[in-house]
Amino acid sequence: MQKSSILVTGGAGYIGSHLVHDLTELGYKVTVLDNLSTGFLENIPAGVELIEADLKSPDLKDILRGREFDTLFHFASKKAAGESMEIPEVYMLENITGALNLFSLLKDLKIRKVIFSSTAAVYGAPESIPVAESAPKNPINYYGFTKLSLEQNLSWLSQIRGIHVAVLRYFNAAGYDVKGRVTKREVGTANLLPVVLETLAGIRSKLMVFGDDYNTPDGSCIRDYIHPSDLSSAHILAMDYLEKNRVNLTLNLGTGKGYSVFEVIKAAADISGLPLNYEVTSRREGDPAALIADASEANHLLGWTPRHSDIETIISTMLPLYISS
Ligand SMILES: NC(=O)c1ccc[n+]([C@@H]2O[C@H](COP(=O)([O-])OP(=O)(O)OC[C@H]3O[C@@H](n4cnc5c(N)ncnc54)[C@H](O)[C@@H]3O)[C@@H](O)[C@H]2O)c1
Repeated sequence: MQKSSILVTGGAGYIGSHLVHDLTELGYKVTVLDNLSTGFLENIPAGVELIEADLKSPDLKDILRGREFDTLFHFASKKAAGESMEIPEVYMLENITGALNLFSLLKDLKIRKVIFSSTAAVYGAPESIPVAESAPKNPINYYGFTKLSLEQNLSWLSQIRGIHVAVLRYFNAAGYDVKGRVTKREVGTANLLPVVLETLAGIRSKLMVFGDDYNTPDGSCIRDYIHPSDLSSAHILAMDYLEKNRVNLTLNLGTGKGYSVFEVIKAAADISGLPLNYEVTSRREGDPAALIADASEANHLLGWTPRHSDIETIISTMLPLYISS
């Protein structure tokens, strides 16, 4: 039997493409909507339809006219917290206007379940760690605000239209497909792991470490890294949970374990066997000292446990995409 049909916005991007591969292997009919601004055609498996379109398009209704989907996974957005403080107008249009343009069509598209890519940035600088879903939501950058406002929009739509929503707040995604199906690496990202790998590969001459005077054991910032293959399995479990239980979910996705910047640097140099040139510079505005997830709710409700998010797997799955053997 053909499984239900699924729309994945941003399915050509870094995290979305991991899910698209897994859903396709499970036999779902997947359609990707992506403007390929940061995504790649090569990341979409054969047989998956790509609607190459922009979410902000005034023609979106016509582009999607006549289509029906059971479930929407909404990944497409911009994601650089620092950049969002320099060009909030772009984030307003890309993240909020684009998403609302799409959400205004949920009824027409007969979508019953929405799984939304949110972020730990909705918590801002948390008062205590690990951070549970109930912690205060005080974003300290505009990017985090865009996600929080969309979470609230979806909550209203759920009440009024009866759709079920899973808000998944990812911590720091890192690593590449454990099955090697995603072959195009991200470009232009400001996240630590890709920058470390670009430095190992000689694409950058040096890695800048933003502050070594934080209140952490080695003075550098601590983050909770989660592998996209683990994010993908959580998305599929969340979709099944919504279908079965007809409720809404808000879940953190992380490991509950943090690595400092210096620990990541050491692991990358050890695992690759390559020297890693870095320089410590001053703190960056808006960087909390430590961000670690309390992801016990995802474990409890979905039975989800990260399997690939140890630093060794993260770095060793990244290496082939950066350094040719
Ligand atoms: N990468 C992380 O660590 C992280 C952490 C927390 C949350 N997230 C969220 O996860 C989602 C996916 O992130 P990613 O790391 O895969 O980023 P990405 O940039 O690789 O993927 C985004 C995809 O969306 C597409 N896209 C962007 N704007 C679009 C638009 N207006 N219309 C159509 N397509 C558009 C891009 O071409 C790309 O394929 C984002 O919503 C992001 O905010 C990511």
